[in-house]
Amino acid sequence: MGRGAFAFARENIGNVAKATAIVCLILLVREIVVGTGGIKYAYSHLLYVPIILGGFLWGIVGGVTLAVLAGIAAAGIPIDTATGEVQETANWLLRAVIFVLVGGLNGLLMGVKDAYIRRVKQMLGEACSLLSNVFGGFSTAISSKDTYTGNHCQRVAHNAYSIGRQLGLPERESQRLYWAGLLHDVGKIGVPDSILNKPGKLTDAEFNAIRKHSKEGCDLVNSIAESLEGIAKGIRHHHERWDGKGYPDRAKGEDIHIFGRIIAVADVFEALTTKRPYRDAMPVEAALQEIRKGRGTHFDPLVVDAFLSAYKSGQIWVGENKAAWCVLPSNVDEEMVKGCLHCRW
Ligand SMILES: [Fe+2]
Repeated sequence: MGRGAFAFARENIGNVAKATAIVCLILLVREIVVGTGGIKYAYSHLLYVPIILGGFLWGIVGGVTLAVLAGIAAAGIPIDTATGEVQETANWLLRAVIFVLVGGLNGLLMGVKDAYIRRVKQMLGEACSLLSNVFGGFSTAISSKDTYTGNHCQRVAHNAYSIGRQLGLPERESQRLYWAGLLHDVGKIGVPDSILNKPGKLTDAEFNAIRKHSKEGCDLVNSIAESLEGIAKGIRHHHERWDGKGYPDRAKGEDIHIFGRIIAVADVFEALTTKRPYRDAMPVEAALQEIRKGRGTHFDPLVVDAFLSAYKSGQIWVGENKAAWCVLPSNVDEEMVKGCLHCRW
């Protein structure tokens, strides 16, 4: 056997196994029909099972092929086993033709169903791509407005994802969390540059202008699709505090969306460990201590514990050297976008 034949056999091993199983099923059903009295009794309808399976697995070709095999298997079955009455040829041929019609029609319908599913998947892929491009556009918009904020979001997204996994969030939910982290400051697009990049102390009015960004970011993401509600809530709640002293809703404890509680820790840690227009970066150990100090007041205690565990195991990006703009973690893929489109949480 040549290399091509081996490759063909390896690729089709599943189909060969299924075909063998169905042929065995036909032989088994034949014995059952003989053993239960003959072709005129109800058990003869079991011969339709492999025919239906053939159509389900391989469309019209499979349905017709299995129908022909079932017809051949039915050839020698007596009308009545007890009396030994045999089938007439015309009777058998009629039965075989009905098998082929049923197998062909079922296979045809299965083929139509498969084509429909392929089309739906293609449309889903296009929708995923579109949504991914919208998110990417938002990210670029944040970055172009303020390079610091853009890279900040990238690191927060990565670290939020790591915390989510450490907390035991399912992979797909953690991937949505990644998007929420990436877009958490998207509302800053509406904040004037003069305020956003101001090196000195902000006035109360300027603070208030900045504080609107979590609600505005939430509204922006919500306006794209209802199914992004979880991401939007995570964005809205990323400045809430565990003790209820945050903004914009003064939500408290577990009333704060889990994405918001996680992003809050990732956001503050990232902000402390990078240089800002108005101060230098804080040493990592001092920043970790700040996070520990906020456990149970500013931050959800369990999230802080998960963050510290993730940090110890090297899953947390620290400082400005760890941000390749627009490079997603290798384990974040198109699935997360599909999840965004199809799941609420
Ligand atoms: Fe923010």
